[in-house]
Amino acid sequence: MLDALRSRGHCGNRFYGEKCVSLLKEKYGFLSVFLTPSCTAAMEMGALLANLSVGDEVILPSYTFSSTANAIVLRGARPVFCDVDPDTMNINIELINPLITERTRMIAPIDYAGVPCDMDPILEIARKHELIVMQDAAQSLHSFYKEKACGSWPPLAAFSFHESKNVSCGEGGALIVNQPDWVERAAFLQEKGTDRSLVLHGQKRKYSWVDIGSSFLLSDILAAMLLAQLEATETIVEKRRRITRAYQELFSPYEKPGCVRLPKLPAHTQINHHALFIIFDSADNRQRFLSLTNERDIHPYIGYVPLHSSPMGRKLGYRPEDIPVTEDISQRLVRLPFYTDLADQGLDYCQDGMGAVMHQIYGF
Ligand SMILES: Cc1ncc(COP(=O)(O)O)c(C=O)c1O
Repeated sequence: MLDALRSRGHCGNRFYGEKCVSLLKEKYGFLSVFLTPSCTAAMEMGALLANLSVGDEVILPSYTFSSTANAIVLRGARPVFCDVDPDTMNINIELINPLITERTRMIAPIDYAGVPCDMDPILEIARKHELIVMQDAAQSLHSFYKEKACGSWPPLAAFSFHESKNVSCGEGGALIVNQPDWVERAAFLQEKGTDRSLVLHGQKRKYSWVDIGSSFLLSDILAAMLLAQLEATETIVEKRRRITRAYQELFSPYEKPGCVRLPKLPAHTQINHHALFIIFDSADNRQRFLSLTNERDIHPYIGYVPLHSSPMGRKLGYRPEDIPVTEDISQRLVRLPFYTDLADQGLDYCQDGMGAVMHQIYGF
């Protein structure tokens, strides 16, 4: 980071940024990568690139972060919420078709907790109806679906390098563009609608305003931090795997009697151990778990508050009962404490504390 600072060339698309881009392309098979200030910005750039506009409809799960929907709403398009599969909390493929109308332009699935959504059938539906797919892969860098990296399948995908993610530079993101004829324009949109990319590649002497766009750039100082993190990905994922294993061991005895449910990994997936959630048998037991663990200074949290029943979702005309599985499970789901260093310090404490709380609630 000091090196980037001292180079005096520490704006976007400089030395360390280019190194991150090359690494990501080579390692994960992405066609092109644009580093952005966040995953939020990456999806806004993706929505611009896809020419989403007023009256268009985009199908997405309600169980996601506001950013997935904001990228759509900011273009004047309408988010159409789809329910989830309770095994993964990812979009329920079976429910996509009935939501398609002549206004549908895009499907925006997410990879919740780093578990890949079922991209093959999603792309098949998209092909059939000529829809664009933009994958919100905020949480799934280094997860694989059918042996190909998340983000390498659809035309557009967005990653997050926020502090809460496996690989982080504080705030950061990337838009992946796998559609060859969109790559040049993506570079214009990223650089405030100018063709500065052509100047950087020696194809032009002076750049000019050629399209709409914004400042979708990551400073090279943050890119330097990101590069170090990217280079440590395997170590990070390995540490996090230990946390998953420990939690699975702790909670699986409670699965058979129906006290909790753990996520079910779909076939052909390899995960990055971003997070682990459990679903309690009742909202009351979830509340007891949260209160009792907090008393022990252990802090699981509740996951997403569904978008369809949020104040903004209600303004869009949704009622809580419209997306029933999401509404029900979001009140029973807990995300367990999960960060890389926990594998080195604190995991035993969390395991013992949460084990004692489960014993208190269920009596065994
Ligand atoms: C699914 C999803 N999309 C988007 C975001 C936003 O990412 P960022 O903070 O990089 O904008 C998050 C953040 O946690 C997320 O979970």
